[in-house]
Order: sequence, then C-alpha cells, then structure tokens
Amino acid sequence: MTEKKYTWHKIADNITALDFGDNNIAVAAWKGKKVCIGKYNEGLFAFAYKCPHAGGILAEGYIDALGHVVCPLHRYKYSIQNGRNVSGEGYYLKHWRVEQRENGVFVGMEESSGLFS
Ligand code: FES
Repeated sequence: MTEKKYTWHKIADNITALDFGDNNIAVAAWKGKKVCIGKYNEGLFAFAYKCPHAGGILAEGYIDALGHVVCPLHRYKYSIQNGRNVSGEGYYLKHWRVEQRENGVFVGMEESSGLFS
C-alpha cells in the first residue's frame, strides 16, 4: 500500500482568525477557492463550500449532534469525517484534513483530490 501524500495549505494564522459564527462553520479561502472549516467534538474538519447536490451554501447550514453537515437547501446530510451522504441520496461531500500547527491552521489535500471547489 502506498502512503498518501498531502499538500498542506495555510488557511489562517491561527484558529482565532476563523469566524465560526453560531453554527460552528467558518469559511476560509485559499487562492480564491472557498472551503468550510467545521468544528465538531473539539476537532476541525474541512469540507466543500457548496453542497454536491445543487450547490447549497454549506456554511449556511449546520452540524448536527451526530457530526453531520446539514445542507440548508434540501437538508441532505453528510458525515463531517468521511463525506458520506448519510441521508441516503448517494452524493459525496469533498472533505479534507485540518491541522493546527504553531504557525497556523492548515488544510491537507491528497495530491490526487484536486482543489477546493
Ligand atoms: S443543495 Fe444541498 S441538499 Fe440540495
């Protein structure tokens, strides 16, 4: 099995630079591409800014008690940890790893996974 390679992108100087509002979802950007940063159970998770169903703005949705990102448009739900569409419609939410380091907050993309969208 080959080891996954990640490219890390700094999206904030530190966590306090991110505005999580009252739904625990912040919006960050890297090279003009937006990405959602969600807080759940003390962890940070990155996921697509727009819903894979019909483009609902996920930053305007919420994270439920089970760690599902709920889209504000048609209420489809996605696991914040693995992107699976847990409400059963068959979609998949792009998601990425997040690391807090001394010098900032970074989002890691597998080299084959493409940019945020
Ligand atoms: S656009 Fe998100 S559920 Fe339809």
